[in-house]
Amino acid sequence: MLSKRLTEISKLVDKNKVVFDVGSDHALLPCFLVQNGISPKAYASDNKEGPLKKAVENINKLGLTGKVIPVLGDGLENISDDVDIITICGMGFYTIKHILEGKDLNRYDKIIVQSNKDNDLLRSFINSQNYSIINEVVIFDGFYYEAIVINPKSKTEYSDLELKYGPILLKRKDENFINYLKYKKDKLIQIYKRSCQESLLKEIDEINKILDN
Ligand SMILES: C[S@@+](CC[C@H](N)C(=O)[O-])C[C@H]1O[C@@H](n2cnc3c(N)ncnc32)[C@H](O)[C@@H]1O
Repeated sequence: MLSKRLTEISKLVDKNKVVFDVGSDHALLPCFLVQNGISPKAYASDNKEGPLKKAVENINKLGLTGKVIPVLGDGLENISDDVDIITICGMGFYTIKHILEGKDLNRYDKIIVQSNKDNDLLRSFINSQNYSIINEVVIFDGFYYEAIVINPKSKTEYSDLELKYGPILLKRKDENFINYLKYKKDKLIQIYKRSCQESLLKEIDEINKILDN
């Protein structure tokens, strides 16, 4: 069964689009997209032989040969011309930056990124490129995750607050985001109690203001 994290990410993929999943590992996301009629075709790409072998086994087991195509390569190096949407999930910010930096991406509809941490750095990187953020979701699947949908065809400038917490998340303020903020605040309070670091008070106050507005 697909994890809650990847299930929620699959909901960000538009129907009838060809997806290139970078760092696909066992090809779980592309197989799910094709099996559920979301994508007519998807690529499962990884830069290591081991995960790709697992991907091929999974694709064959599910009878998706020719519909989910394994690709060996670093990041986007072997991407095909028919791709509409890129997904990059379950990695760290620096790997995602390495995959996206210096690439001409404006021919793609969307890039869906889910970094395991450093989402503020990820948004700052997006802000430094000619991109905009068109959707964001907080997912709780044992841990809190943020998934960000990038439009690589248009540029929006974001404030420091938006880069830190997410422009769409701040606007929408849904239940998952509120719970995530409360969780972050509790963690900061615990660290403050141990360290008495003044800067933490500023951050706690910032979160309180978002929660109260
Ligand atoms: C933790 S797994 C994530 C699997 C899946 N995307 C998920 O979200 O559950 C990360 C995968 O990314 C692959 N990977 C790491 N750096 C990569 C790169 N530069 N290009 C392609 N794949 C990469 C690893 O080999 C590994 O299989």
